[in-house]
Amino acid sequence: MTYGEAKKKLEAYGQTHVLRYYDALDGEERARLLSQIERTDFAVLDNMRYRGQAAPRGVFAPLDALELDEISQRKDELEATGAQAIRDGRVAACLLAGGMGTRLGSDDPKGMYDLGETKHVYIFQRLIENLLEVTDRVGAFPRLFIMTSEKNHDATVAFLKEKKYFGYPEEKVTFFMQDMAPACDYDGKVFMESKSAIATSPNGNAGWYLSMCKAHLDDVLHKEGIEWINIFAVDNVLQRICDPVFIGATIEQHAECGAKVVRKAAPDEAVGVICLEDGHPSIVEYYDLTDEMKDAKNEKGDPAYNFGVILNYLFYEPALKRIMDDELPLHVVEKKIAHIDEEGNPVKPDKPNGCKFEQLVLDMIHELDSCVVFEVVREHEFAPVKNRTGIDSVESARALLKKAGIAL
Ligand code: UTP
Repeated sequence: MTYGEAKKKLEAYGQTHVLRYYDALDGEERARLLSQIERTDFAVLDNMRYRGQAAPRGVFAPLDALELDEISQRKDELEATGAQAIRDGRVAACLLAGGMGTRLGSDDPKGMYDLGETKHVYIFQRLIENLLEVTDRVGAFPRLFIMTSEKNHDATVAFLKEKKYFGYPEEKVTFFMQDMAPACDYDGKVFMESKSAIATSPNGNAGWYLSMCKAHLDDVLHKEGIEWINIFAVDNVLQRICDPVFIGATIEQHAECGAKVVRKAAPDEAVGVICLEDGHPSIVEYYDLTDEMKDAKNEKGDPAYNFGVILNYLFYEPALKRIMDDELPLHVVEKKIAHIDEEGNPVKPDKPNGCKFEQLVLDMIHELDSCVVFEVVREHEFAPVKNRTGIDSVESARALLKKAGIAL
């Protein structure tokens, strides 16, 4: 793209400040900036119009969960089905590690965070150890895909390589990168990360399947006969990954996806609740739950909207292929965005200063026809590390790990 073309594109979106430092850049920096302008989809900035507005929703209804007592009664049968699918190579795991982890406040990829007190216990290590528990039991290694982003790819790959994948076979680990979106201030002007680069951030965790396909990894799925993909968040250090019982339950119900859930700790707990919306599985954020939904009871007398998702889902790949062209909503999310100011000085904000644009996995669920809602024991499977202190923090996760008998 030439300077003139770049200027024209930026004018169309009111973003000509991107070229403010152009004259001061060297040849290589100029070329890099022009190439980034060419690749950047500035149309996403239009979504700033909808900031703070709730998207229109359909009609909600409860969706029954497979609860702990029923799971425990059927455990052997479900586990046998899931373990066989893993041994047959029909299951893969996919770690969503493209996020920036800004709330944790470390510049390293979140998975490199060390939770240990007397020894190293890295987040990546904890996740792989959880997966190894299953592979030891089942006797087979599912392919482990790891989604990174431009911001953390090199550091993630180098770290895991250096640590020898914490015991996972290297030939079973496949990395791919997700796409980026520009980040802007509250007036919709993109931030500059440096004089020669627009500030960008990963485009949300729903990008994983499209990014996989872009990297031609769907060919790998088809060649290896992988039908089920268990995606999981980087920051839940207790979750069971490729859990054969969960996989068995989803397969036996012929569902298009499965969602691990925990019983809500309180009616207003800040977790997304799984339910039906216009007959499709859907996740409603806690702040969108009406009083009527909060008070509704099922036939057992329990709250009807009582199960929160923990970002551990199993997807049937042919169903994803079917919905891959569906347009998912773009969420405008307020975040802390590092940038340079008008004088070119670096700014590292300590509170949200602008917006990023993300597509979320929960909107993928809504495109599908059916979902098995699979209850897990909270203390066994839910220890999210989102913040440094307080709720869902390093502190709370450490306490939960110790309670689960994991030495730190
Ligand atoms: P979060 O929603 O907690 O976002 O991600 P985050 O970027 O990690 O953290 P903050 O909000 O900046 O502090 C939930 C999961 O989705 C992944 C994260 O890596 C985490 O596993 N994710 C999120 C991606 O893989 N890509 C994204 O673009 C966003």
